[in-house]
Amino acid sequence: MKILVIGGAGYIGSHFSAHALEQLSGAEVSIIDDLSSGNLEAIEAIEFIAQKKVAFYQIDILDLDALQKAFQAVRPDCVVHVAEKNRPPLFMVNQSTCQ
Ligand SMILES: NC(=O)c1ccc[n+]([C@@H]2O[C@H](COP(=O)([O-])OP(=O)(O)OC[C@H]3O[C@@H](n4cnc5c(N)ncnc54)[C@H](O)[C@@H]3O)[C@@H](O)[C@H]2O)c1
Repeated sequence: MKILVIGGAGYIGSHFSAHALEQLSGAEVSIIDDLSSGNLEAIEAIEFIAQKKVAFYQIDILDLDALQKAFQAVRPDCVVHVAEKNRPPLFMVNQSTCQ
């Protein structure tokens, strides 16, 4: 299952990513983050904890062209959106493939 975590270099996203890679058999995690508050060390920590590589796209999600290209490259089964600056998080989960 391909999981795309938007905001994955932040606190919640990085913990979710490491947990998903550890707990879900066959899970692949890709991360979109603009690093406005997250950091690359968080992604390195995910890879260290899970002993798996993560595909990282440094993208501002307001850049719709870049966002579309990343979605086309990843082709996710499941999207977890926890990127935010001032608003509450929005979680989008395809429950048929992401359980
Ligand atoms: N941290 C907590 O204990 C906690 C608890 C409950 C709910 N939440 C909610 O979870 C969400 C995430 O919280 P967090 O603590 O992980 O925050 P965070 O700041 O650590 O992570 C947010 C990530 O989103 C990224 N981001 C922000 N704007 C972006 C953009 N335009 N494009 C791409 N990436 C962007 C940031 O670089 C960062 O890595 C928030 O909505 C927060 O309210 C957090």
